[in-house]
Order: sequence, then structure tokens, then C-alpha cells
Amino acid sequence: PRNEFVNELMAKMTIEEKIAQMVQFTSDGTVTGPASGSNFVDEIKKGNVGSILNATGVKYTRQLQELNMKNSRLKIPLLFGYDVIHGYRTIFPITLGETASWDLEAAKKSSEIAAAEAAASGVHWTFAPMVDIARDPRWGRVSEGSGEDTYLGVQMAIARVKGFQGADLSANNTVLACTKHFAAYGAAEAGRDYNTVDMSERVLREVYLPPFKATVDAGVGTFMTSFNEIAGVPSTGSKFLMHDVLKEEWGFKGFVVTDYTAINELIPHGFAKDSLEAGERSLKAGVDMDMVGGIYLKFLKQSLQDGKVTQAQIDDACRRVLEAKYDLGLFEDPYRYNDEKREKQTIYKQEYLDAALDIANKSMVLLENKNNTLPLKKVQKVAFVGPLVSDEWNIIGSWAATGDRNGYAHSVQEGVMALLGKNANVTFDKGVEIIDPKRDMMQQALTNAAKADVIVAVLGEFENMTGEAASRTNIQLPGIQREFLAELKKLGKPVVLVLMNGRPLDLTWESENMDAILEAWFPGTMGGDAIAQTLYGENNPGGKLPMTFPRTLGQVPIYYNHKNTGRPYYGAADPQQKYKSKYIDSVNEPLYPFGYGLSYTNFNYSNLKLSSKNLSYTGNITVSVNVANTGNYDGEEVVQLYVQDKYGSVTRPVRELKGFKKVLLKKGEKKTVTFDITADDLRFYDIDMNFVAEPGDFNVFVGGNSDAELTETFLLVR
Ligand code: IFM
Repeated sequence: PRNEFVNELMAKMTIEEKIAQMVQFTSDGTVTGPASGSNFVDEIKKGNVGSILNATGVKYTRQLQELNMKNSRLKIPLLFGYDVIHGYRTIFPITLGETASWDLEAAKKSSEIAAAEAAASGVHWTFAPMVDIARDPRWGRVSEGSGEDTYLGVQMAIARVKGFQGADLSANNTVLACTKHFAAYGAAEAGRDYNTVDMSERVLREVYLPPFKATVDAGVGTFMTSFNEIAGVPSTGSKFLMHDVLKEEWGFKGFVVTDYTAINELIPHGFAKDSLEAGERSLKAGVDMDMVGGIYLKFLKQSLQDGKVTQAQIDDACRRVLEAKYDLGLFEDPYRYNDEKREKQTIYKQEYLDAALDIANKSMVLLENKNNTLPLKKVQKVAFVGPLVSDEWNIIGSWAATGDRNGYAHSVQEGVMALLGKNANVTFDKGVEIIDPKRDMMQQALTNAAKADVIVAVLGEFENMTGEAASRTNIQLPGIQREFLAELKKLGKPVVLVLMNGRPLDLTWESENMDAILEAWFPGTMGGDAIAQTLYGENNPGGKLPMTFPRTLGQVPIYYNHKNTGRPYYGAADPQQKYKSKYIDSVNEPLYPFGYGLSYTNFNYSNLKLSSKNLSYTGNITVSVNVANTGNYDGEEVVQLYVQDKYGSVTRPVRELKGFKKVLLKKGEKKTVTFDITADDLRFYDIDMNFVAEPGDFNVFVGGNSDAELTETFLLVR
């Protein structure tokens, strides 16, 4: 029926009406690039628009839809898109933080809730998940993705697409998802946003593309192009990416939207001489919808008349957009997401807030805990200090949709008071600002801190220091925050550092000087409660880093699954130290490796076993390991499996994540955790670019982070 419906409709459409479906304008919401100059209301009235972004709320979207329906000759509804990245009203931890939970159910759940709130508020389509692999913490957008690892990124991407889209796109609690940014946006040179990318097709396909492919297989409805070029070809004009790989090779049936004015940007890229050519190259490459740029609207008809693009290309793009609208049920009822009563009943539901708290708790990563400084005891006198201690604005992070930045958002202070009650023996002082170097509040904070048993400093970045267009050349704590920590340390009390930030930071000084460090990311609406519960032991932190934390910016890019080089350096014991791949002023190792995170309890790994020493192409090997909770608290541990292919027709990384399992172990409990490995898990692009597993020797490592030392070997045999 969808085919028939769309065929019949398209048979009636003029060329102008078809092109209109390929046009998106922004309403008076967020503007994240050069504005197109078009008045979206006038364009809707003229029937020139297929989609609007940044319009939200039942009332407002209904108003725009009514305007559209009144003016659309064939009654084709508008599609409303919005950046619902880590929540719509109820805000969850930033995506990087949520990924630190390594909890796929959590990622699915938060996306489901985000979808339910957004769909109840007139939004049809989210520009998420962002699946860009990112190995450079200078890039501000690392906060929006799942970090550096392809395997983890794939699992998270699938969970989020399933969460957003559910089983039925026409249900009133699901939204169309959009996998972005296609492709390799996270590899921008020097971590500078929008910057050039150049990489081999092998790295592109092995490291950067798998999360995109996984979402196609999971049924994602749309894709967004990236701003960067790859090897001289901007993604938005890349026939290789969109036509050859996405639509032909992967069989993607949805539509591709550009990023904000990305077609126009083909001109400064030097890929098109003018707007006309930019539009032609994009359509031919496989771009179906022009976000904000207005180029398709102004020039596509002329390109068709000039014979530069074909009717079939325009028809294909238009059809894909109409099919998405059909799947959402918009032809049946353009107002099916416009029920004011449902909107009121849905947003900020208690169960959503509970889920936000639970997921924020799961995203906490304990980086240091000397002398069991944490958890705090309720009887201790605690001085809470720092610019983020009473903050409700930054705590929900960047790209936080329509989430309240006060009111519903709970600060750490609110979380602590809710947990301890009003007679709590605690003080709260800002002490310093995040960036502003003024010192006039510092003394008051130090005076209170001097009287406490323990000091908790809540520091970090402004939320807008990560996200789009927020690259940094310095990844230390901004402003005079470190100086403030040094003053606190001089008081001779244990100092706990709680961090809110959207990227790996250089915490070398902090790791040496702080007694405990809790990485809280930007934890969302209920973040203050989650931090309080974690500090006081009501939540035992079990998060693990989804990105490597370097010792110094000079090590960047740094990631665990690097290659070995011909001169690997084996550390201080290496007899031939000089001509090895290393630095003369720093060790190679990061401060905190990928997959790292402590707990209030201890986990002991033993008895790593393989069911066989030989793996055939049709069989499997079961890897088993015993994990015991040997500490004093119940806790969750992410058991990680890494594999190294020791040699091949091309070189392979020193190890790669191939599986993980999150297990709850009661105090004193021991479990056997198993993983299956098949030849399929060992595939890569060989010297001839065939995706195969090559016979030979493999190492297996299992443990609680990417430095896992328990190891075994096996042989893949034909
Ligand atoms: O979805 C975003 C994208 O990630 C960056 N540019 C703007 C888009 C729409 O807001």
C-alpha cells in the first residue's frame, strides 16, 4: 500500500512540488550556521517546504502544519525535525557519558523516553544517533557520540535507533531517527570542527563506517551528511559515500538530509563553482534533502532543464521523503503528534525522571579513590565547593533540546540536600568561576573547607565548551580551577574532585593531587541526585571510559586499538630504548585507558579458559573467565573481551574490543562470564580489500579495561 500510495501521489505532483519535498528550512529556533535568508513562513505558504527543523511543541507545530495543509495543493504534510540528542525535556547524561554505562538497555531506554516526549510534543524526527567515532578530545563533539571504539559504537548505535524508532514509526511515542554525520566527521584534523579528513579506505571502512552500517541494518529511517571532506571529496558531494556505499552496497531505503547549509558549503570547500553546481553535485551524489541551504529550491529545476540532473534522481529523492512521511502516519493524520493533553501528560513523567536518575548513576566513572576516600559517610562534615556545585544550567549538557535548565534540573547541592535532609552538616561555596579568573569568592570557600572533614570540589567545563563548534587546544580544567584545587589541597583534608565535562581532560596533576576523582560528565536533569547518591555510596559507580584520557595533549590522538609499529617500545625494561616508537618527555601510555573505571568494591579476574585452541571457519570458541567481587560492596563490573590478530596480509591493531558483559556481583560473589568468538568476529579488510578473516595466531585478553592482562591464544584454521 505504501508503494501504491506514493506512486499515485507522485503521478499528480509537479516538478516544483517534488522539489519542495527535498527542502528543509529552520523555524525561529536554534541557528547553528550561516542562515539561508529564507523566510520559512512565506516558503510554507508558497508550498515550497517539505520539512521544518527546530519547531517544537504541539501548539506551534500544529500552527505551522495547518498553514502548510492549507497551502499544499496535494495535502502533503510537513515533517518536523529536531535535535533530540540525549533527551527532549527529561535530559539524560550526554551521549558520551551515557556510553560510559556500557549499558545497552539504558541507551535504548533513554532514546525511547526521548522519543516519547518529543513525539508527544509535535516532533517527528530526531537528528540522532550521532555515531561518529572520535579519537581526538580536542574536538568538542566527542561529547555527542559513543567515543573511540567501533565495537562499542556499533552496539550503542543499534540500541539508540531501536529506542527512538521502536517497532512502529506510526505509533505516537516513536520518532524517525537519523544516523549522523556520514562520514568520518570525528576524524577532523587537529580536532578542529568541520576540518579536513584524509584517511585510507581501509580505516574508513574498518573504524568509522561500521556504526553507520549497523544502523542501516537496524532499520534507521534517515542519514545526515557530514561537513568534512574525505580525501578531497566533501561528504555532502560524495557519490562514493551516499550512492555507492550507503544506497547500493548497504541497501539503505530511507532518505539522506544534509547537515546545516552543507550544500552551500561545497563552494568554500572548492568543490563547486557556484550554487547551481553545488546542488547538482549533491543530488547526483545521493543527497535527498537540503537542510536550510535553499539551493535545491532555487536551482534544481534549472539543473533539470539544463540536463545536469535527471528526473529519476529527483523522483527518487522525493519518493524517499514521502515514504518516511507515510511510515510516520502523517498522510493518515498530519496532526497525530499534536495532542495537547498527551503532551502535558507525557513530559517529565515521574518514571522518566526515575530513569534519568538511574542512567545518570550508571554513567558515573570513578577514576581515583585513594584510601577509600569515597564513599562519604553521612556523619562527616563536608565542604562542597566549586563553580558547578549549585549549577542547574550546565549540568544537563549541550544539545539538551528543550530540557529545563532550572526547575526540573537538579544541582549537586539539591541532590545532596535531598539525600541528607535539611540538618546536613555541609556547606556550599562556589569559590571560583569556570573561566573568569576572579578570586574574590575563593577565601570564603577556603574558610569553610578548612572546617570540614572532607572537601568535595565540583568543577569542569561549561556545557558549551563541548558540542558543535567547541574545539579546544587545551584540555586541562579551564580557568583557575586547578589553582583552586591546589589551595584546597594545602588545607590538608581529603579532597574529592567531581568533574562535569564533555571530553577527556588532561587530569595528570589532579590524579596525583586529589584523593578521589569522580567523572560525572554532564549527567542530565537528575544529575545532582546521581552525584550525591554516588558520593554517599547509595550508588556504587560502575561506569567505564568510552575514550582514552591522555596524560598530556601531546599524546593526542591516542586510542587503545593502535598499531604496533615496527619499533614498538616495551617500557623502561626495554634493553634498546633509544630508537623505539616513543616520546623523550612522556611515556606512551595514557593516564586512564579506554574501558577503565574503578568501583567501591574490587573485582578479581582468574581462570581464563578457551574451549579450544583451534577455531574453524564454521565453529566457535567459548572464552570463559571467573570474576569475583572481593571487596565490601555489591557492584557492577563491565567484563571486556579483546582480541589481537598477530599478523596478516595487512597490519592489525594491538588489540580490539570484541565483546563485553555487564555483571552484577554481590559482595563475596563469584561468576563465570563467557563469550563466544567466531571467524566472523575476526574479519577485516585484507590487502585486496576483501572483508575476511585470515588464518593464523590470535591473542585473547579479558579484564576490566583495555589494559587487561589475563591472556590466552588460539589459532584460526581453514
Ligand atoms: O543535527 C545538527 C547537526 O548535528 C549539526 N548541525 C545542525 C544540525 C541540525 O540542528
